[in-house]
Amino acid sequence: MISNEQVLKALSHVDDPDLKKDLVTLGMIENLQIDESIRFDLVLTTPACPMKDMMVNACKNAIRLMVDAAIPVEIHTTSRVSTTRTPDEVLRGVKNIIAVASGKGGVGKSTVSAGLALALQQMGAAVGLLDADIYGPSIPTIFGVHESPEMKTIDGRQVMIPIEKFGIRLLSIGFMTPPEQAIVWRGPMIASAFRQFVNDTDWGDLDYLIIDLPPGTGDVQLSLAQIVPLTGLVIVTTPQEVAIADARRAVSMFRIPAISKPILGVVENMAWFEPPDMPGKKYFIFGEGGGKRLAEEQQVPYLGALPLTESVRVRADKGSWDATAPDFQPFMVLAAEVARQVSIENSHKSAKFV
Ligand SMILES: Nc1ncnc2c1ncn2[C@@H]1O[C@H](COP(=O)(O)OP(=O)(O)OP(=O)(O)O)[C@@H](O)[C@H]1O
Ligand SMILES: [Mg+2]
Repeated sequence: MISNEQVLKALSHVDDPDLKKDLVTLGMIENLQIDESIRFDLVLTTPACPMKDMMVNACKNAIRLMVDAAIPVEIHTTSRVSTTRTPDEVLRGVKNIIAVASGKGGVGKSTVSAGLALALQQMGAAVGLLDADIYGPSIPTIFGVHESPEMKTIDGRQVMIPIEKFGIRLLSIGFMTPPEQAIVWRGPMIASAFRQFVNDTDWGDLDYLIIDLPPGTGDVQLSLAQIVPLTGLVIVTTPQEVAIADARRAVSMFRIPAISKPILGVVENMAWFEPPDMPGKKYFIFGEGGGKRLAEEQQVPYLGALPLTESVRVRADKGSWDATAPDFQPFMVLAAEVARQVSIENSHKSAKFV
């Protein structure tokens, strides 16, 4: 009769390639059952782990080599997103907070934020999206939502309830102001708006809260860094030199010791254009490879590239996202990579499960 100890000993020889520790130490093996077959759950730390198949195969090989070459092995993969946060902090039910930033305007932060949120939701994660572009909110347009959030009273306090669309909890200052109204706010008001979004909003339990930032390195970014316990930043740039130079400044702002937030990586947006009637023909309109070079130079992960696609622009203008459409696939790949970097970041800070 094979014992649990034998199986766990074999599995302790399998490492998570990203977290660089073995699966048993990481607490990833659950519900181990042994009779005519060996069955267990492999609990991954990201909803769509790109390394899943490789890890399943490594587990099977370890059991075959060290326990029994013939017994059938059934591995059920699930996920529980990791966090290093404690429940007494602000945004207590939120496991990971990811801000999407850029130096230059118009490079696609809001589009990337929206695509990332939807892709993570599609992978099975609980996701929220906070539009922190106080002066030029785009999330209402990108999601086609133009209604005011409702309020409710929790423990004698009035709190806002985010608006749900595509299964994502959304909040934007644009839900509360008419679209044509200019928003003129001074620094302290920005901080107080942020506090309300963070403290007086019922976000509930989330695996990921995505924050769409305005461009640059100003008051909003500073308030965010002070008020919100960020897991890390995703930096968006186009390949062109002016955008890269501004992205470099954004990276260096978040590296100032007084701010010091982890950079999860760089995304290159509008990386190329492939005309639908000329498949395979790529035009590098804004230059080639700038995002990757920036990532290498700054020694941060390169998260991948998104092509310039007319249909994506149309979807973003109309709020008509379709996660099953081919044009959405690059966002799924990007989201898997972002989730992976979050998981790695958490492992550096010795993640715990909640
Ligand atoms: N990959 C893409 N393919 C096609 N259009 C895109 C893509 N990414 C962004 N766009 C379009 O480019 C425009 C600018 O994008 P977006 O609003 O996301 O940029 P931003 O960085 O958030 O801008 P801002 O700095 O003003 O907040 C939008 O019209 C958007 O639909
Ligand atoms: Mg924007």
